[in-house]
Amino acid sequence: MKFFVDTADVDEIRELAETGLLDGVTTNPSLVAKTGRDFKETIKEICAIVDGPVSAEVAAIDADGMVTEGRVLAEIASNVTIKVPLTFDGLKACRTLTQSGTMVNVTLCFNANQALMAAKAGATFVSPFIGRLDDIGLDGMELISEIRMIYDNYDALETQVLAASIRSPNHVKISALAGADVATVPPGVLRDLIKHPLTDKGLEMFTADWNKTGQSIT
Ligand code: E4P
Repeated sequence: MKFFVDTADVDEIRELAETGLLDGVTTNPSLVAKTGRDFKETIKEICAIVDGPVSAEVAAIDADGMVTEGRVLAEIASNVTIKVPLTFDGLKACRTLTQSGTMVNVTLCFNANQALMAAKAGATFVSPFIGRLDDIGLDGMELISEIRMIYDNYDALETQVLAASIRSPNHVKISALAGADVATVPPGVLRDLIKHPLTDKGLEMFTADWNKTGQSIT
């Protein structure tokens, strides 16, 4: 499974990219607003740090406007992925943009039929929002499994399932078990993925015991 980080914070992205474990980045208007920075400048900086897909969301809600904005954003760098909402206008824009060779991430997906339509529109990625479904008492994880099953039923559907709105390490684990192609994860959750108290305790003990040997490896 590929890991994207879900943030527009360039410093966070730089730090996480250094681990070599980052496959891409997703941003959205709320994350961009949080930084208080210029959108296009931020996307350009992120694209220079990460080789993989970097999602940049359009602001227009009509298909023509989305295509126009998408083309402007796609000019920033070859790894920009245009994010469009899961509406008929979004799907029309998706088809136009993908046909001209631009990667598209269809966002705000909350049910399996929406994901089927996104795939038919040729989306590179579809983003089912797990956490927001859980927030209203539905099962976000079930949605990932349903989309996986539907896409696997048809060879012609090549869209990648990008598990989004992830709030915890458990969401990541279940996304992987359900066969998501990608998980986009907030920086804090990404760091929490490798934490375990027994790892810390074990390392402490090994270090103390090693020091007792008085040896040096180098
Ligand atoms: C995905 O691309 C979105 O940016 C993101 O995952 C939304 O997450 P949220 O529901 O925590 O805002």
